[in-house]
Amino acid sequence: MYQCINVPVYQLLLHCYTGQLLNYNYKFMNFNTKVIHGGQHHESSTGAVNVPVFLTSTFAQKSPGVHSGYEYSRAANPTRQALEDSLASIENGARGLAFGSGLAAIDCVLKLLNPGDEVIAVDDLYGGTYRMFTRLFEKYQLKFTFISFDDASKISEVITDKTKLIWLETPTNPLMKLVDIKVVADIAKGKDILVAVDNTFATPYIQRPLDLGADIVMHSATKYLGGHSDVIAGALIAKDAELGEKLHFIQFASGGILGPHDSYLVLRGIKTLALRMQRHSYNGYEIAKYLETHPAVDKVIYPGLESHPQYELAKSQMKEAGGMVSFTFKSGKKEDAIRFLERLKVFTLAESLGGVESLANHPALMTHASIPAENRAELGITDDLVRLSVGIEDKEDLIADLERAFS
Ligand SMILES: Cc1ncc(COP(=O)(O)O)c(C=O)c1O
Repeated sequence: MYQCINVPVYQLLLHCYTGQLLNYNYKFMNFNTKVIHGGQHHESSTGAVNVPVFLTSTFAQKSPGVHSGYEYSRAANPTRQALEDSLASIENGARGLAFGSGLAAIDCVLKLLNPGDEVIAVDDLYGGTYRMFTRLFEKYQLKFTFISFDDASKISEVITDKTKLIWLETPTNPLMKLVDIKVVADIAKGKDILVAVDNTFATPYIQRPLDLGADIVMHSATKYLGGHSDVIAGALIAKDAELGEKLHFIQFASGGILGPHDSYLVLRGIKTLALRMQRHSYNGYEIAKYLETHPAVDKVIYPGLESHPQYELAKSQMKEAGGMVSFTFKSGKKEDAIRFLERLKVFTLAESLGGVESLANHPALMTHASIPAENRAELGITDDLVRLSVGIEDKEDLIADLERAFS
């Protein structure tokens, strides 16, 4: 029954239920307003300003099949719905969907495909995405081709009539390579190929892939959207309602939804997204500049530095350069990287990124250990590579911490 309800009717039901008019003109608001109000409404019975956490699995019906628009929380829950509307609003999409993790969101996209279909993916991917592609979905006869997207003409060379999806991250994790989203979207145009962008590192504050021609945006909402390292969550935003409905069907049928409490946490995180991203970007730039002048450092990889090979693309595609900085040691030694990481006090040595606190990570031993050593070496994920997720603390304290760990 639920799947038969199309999006506008569904939204009408939702807003009748909450006593609101159809989505106020949030589509035409600016970003700082959208993160607070996009898709949001006050609760009608009490006037609560914040969306309540609807801790319920099921909803009372007046008569069989006659209900408020909500039947069972796997299909839809008002707290998750509020988050999903907010996601659609901030990414300029038609439909948002919230999942129990970033990987559950990626899993949902891959289930759009059929055995024999082919996927072209950027070669420098988050390790867990690579693991899912190669160790789970290859056995269902999906074929993955991993290539560098530095030269977009290479993408056209590997497209076949079976190619159905192009998957990319930009900036990539952990090497901070950029992909020109518009160029890739133009290549796919008119070819029955979907373009999906993992926008976890940049967030919609910095870049909005759907505006550049992508079809799907994916997030590990665990990171900047949640922003406080207190929740595991994922998100998809579809450019058009039809694709959004297909993804929703898979989410509903597979069940990888986000619970109401976690939905509330991500929704609360989104409200400060713009402010946090400004501060992450400011601190990220300051740390990158400091590292560039440090005698123990060999290479600093940060899209906001002129030394980044795609600095011009960063300027045109990204509003700011974000809070992720990677670097290597002059000695090239793994032991130096490990000693440095062990000595940090303000930066916490931990997996993950995008929270208000600064984190440091050794990709080869931690987040990217699932990528075979020879592939890592080929890509440049060397044993002396350190990835920093620069938080929103005072930059002086962060730099002092790095200095202490170097000395
Ligand atoms: C870029 C990127 N995409 C996807 C994921 C997977 O997200 P999750 O850990 O929320 O499942 C991560 C996790 O680190 C990530 O960094």
